[in-house]
Amino acid sequence: LGHLLSIEGLPERILLEILNTAESFLQIGERAVKKTPTLRGKTVVNLFFESSTRTRTTFELAAKRLSADVLNINVATSSHNKGESLLDTIDNLMAMHVDGFVMRHSEAGAAHLVARHVDQDAWVVNAGDGRHAHPTQGLLDVFTILRHKGPVDQLKVAIVGDILHSRVARSQIHALSILGCPDIRVVAPKTLLPAAVEHLGVRVFHDLDEGLEGVDVVTMLRLQQERMEANLLPSSNEYFRQYGLTDKRLERADPDAIVLHPGPMNRGVEIDSVVADGPRAVILPQVTHGLAIRMAVLTSLAGARDRDLHRDHG
Ligand code: CP
Repeated sequence: LGHLLSIEGLPERILLEILNTAESFLQIGERAVKKTPTLRGKTVVNLFFESSTRTRTTFELAAKRLSADVLNINVATSSHNKGESLLDTIDNLMAMHVDGFVMRHSEAGAAHLVARHVDQDAWVVNAGDGRHAHPTQGLLDVFTILRHKGPVDQLKVAIVGDILHSRVARSQIHALSILGCPDIRVVAPKTLLPAAVEHLGVRVFHDLDEGLEGVDVVTMLRLQQERMEANLLPSSNEYFRQYGLTDKRLERADPDAIVLHPGPMNRGVEIDSVVADGPRAVILPQVTHGLAIRMAVLTSLAGARDRDLHRDHG
């Protein structure tokens, strides 16, 4: 793995390798072993141009658990505000001999731009670019599904909500497809679906009850108000009435169905608190799994880069 920019096109072998490595890190976490020396001497830069709670902190913790030095760039107080371009910022950080970037940006393709710019000299993880991709979220979502439900090639999965603006939905769909999930559904009003969404290999439902019928996994998504025109925003009450996940609605799913949500949740808009805090929710385990997945991704990227350096200079 050179960079991790998207799950689309990722070979199944690499996806499985990351999931298997994450499993071993999760066991380490459960045994409360705090650190491994895997990234000792490496420097990881967290560069988040959009808000984050889970992704930024779990990447920081993952890098620290692997013994890396971590630079958390506070974009709000950085020279980005004085007009410095993204690539000038990257060049200046590269001049400090950093090893890798974890980057979130509102523009689709921003992480790809940086990856092309740094080429082989550092690795880049896309921690979310606009509505395009959030690969580590897709990985932690399938990891959570595998742990709670077993192989995905027997499962029905529904992804409900603002699919149009959701990099999480796209990354989860690609990860499930690579692993052979036979029934991936998206459930949303027409206004919150991308054009030609069927080309992603999903079944489309506009009615929540129909979309949930017999599913094993439900992923709920919030309305991404920050990416919507104010006049196109559905009212929260109306949206909850049609697409909010309640206990009653969940009765349509398989009795053992699990509920995922990438966070942040908007309780009472896309999900009722009774479900969010209920026995079928695996929303907090997703966060725990995110730490293990990010440790696995950083290990894979650093390992690949070390192998390249040895090949070139050995
Ligand atoms: N799931 C996710 O990306 O959460 P954050 O925005 O808090 O990182």
